[in-house]
Amino acid sequence: MTEQDFILKDYKTKVESGKVKWESPSNIALVKYWGKRENQIPENPSISFTLSNCKTITTLSYQKKEGNDFSFNVIFEGENNEAFKPKIQTFFERIQTYVPFLRDYHFTIETSNTFPHSSGIASSASGMSALALCLMSIEEDLRTDHSDHSEDYFSQKASFLARLGSGSACRSIEGELVVWGNNESTESSDLFGVRFTEDTHSNFRDYQDAILLVDKGEKQVSSTVGHKLMFGHPFAEKRFEQAHENLSELKDVLISGNFKRFIEIVESEALTLHAMMMTSMPYFILMKPNTLQIINKIWKFRAETGSNICFTLDAGANVHVLFPKAEADKVYEFIKTELVAYCQNGHYICDTVGKGAKKLV
Ligand code: DP6
Repeated sequence: MTEQDFILKDYKTKVESGKVKWESPSNIALVKYWGKRENQIPENPSISFTLSNCKTITTLSYQKKEGNDFSFNVIFEGENNEAFKPKIQTFFERIQTYVPFLRDYHFTIETSNTFPHSSGIASSASGMSALALCLMSIEEDLRTDHSDHSEDYFSQKASFLARLGSGSACRSIEGELVVWGNNESTESSDLFGVRFTEDTHSNFRDYQDAILLVDKGEKQVSSTVGHKLMFGHPFAEKRFEQAHENLSELKDVLISGNFKRFIEIVESEALTLHAMMMTSMPYFILMKPNTLQIINKIWKFRAETGSNICFTLDAGANVHVLFPKAEADKVYEFIKTELVAYCQNGHYICDTVGKGAKKLV
């Protein structure tokens, strides 16, 4: 597939109005996307677990309008929201070639998250993927030529559009594992996320993710700024190479069920992401003292009990604790007795790997 294949050519604008609704989850990267080129093309491939409980629910209503400008309003958790508009305006500008009907309608975007807004959990992956899917449902209604599209077209284009809103959002359309970015070892693309269809070992099915909210504040470094730090970064080339190697090995690990290497790759990826930020110019430390306390406790617990628990991090202070379902009772007991103390207001979110977005209306 190329960009050209995603341009909607024949469509009718006789439809006066309508409404579509999707829910789309967040995802957590195991091999991290950090660094991008123009047009949201990643510098390296990444792979993530799709989550199930942390999600965005978006209703998109559309009404035929005159004029050629974009016209939309955003209602976030029941209230008019101006703050989200610039990001959506940029998104519309980036995708207009592919969904030209954007200029024919006024859109009302009603959106809410299942996780608290000020939780430090990025909502761009779930939010942008939910919006992209809504636009795809409208495209389905308006399209006049249904002849030359494969069954995968809907998901691929939804992922393609979501990527143009936020890179990691392209990995939220489907589950349970999604690869994004060209690489030698798996079927994938720079343009959209591709479901990892190899036979994943039962060790890695129904994986659990407890998200420990260490710092619920606004992100210190936005991802847009963060990715730019990789331009001219002294270790950039080596890091991109390493991501390729890690993805290639992780693919084998997911098939063989090797917990030990899974843990090593996933934790190393998280620390490398933060190392990149610590060694860029300007430099940032996004972990908090409690992030490190939690990591040390996890290492101690693993050494003492032989558990397969491990951690990963986003570009922030919160800790994602990953573990197999079979260990859920034991690990949640550990979280309650030893880790909750390091969470802001004792807050953490229990999530598990999921199958991707769902159409609601
Ligand atoms: C650290 O997808 O938020 O979570 O493309 O600028 O919107 P933009 O960036 P974004 O970056 C996410 C980076 C990450 C790692 C990952 O999810 O792979």
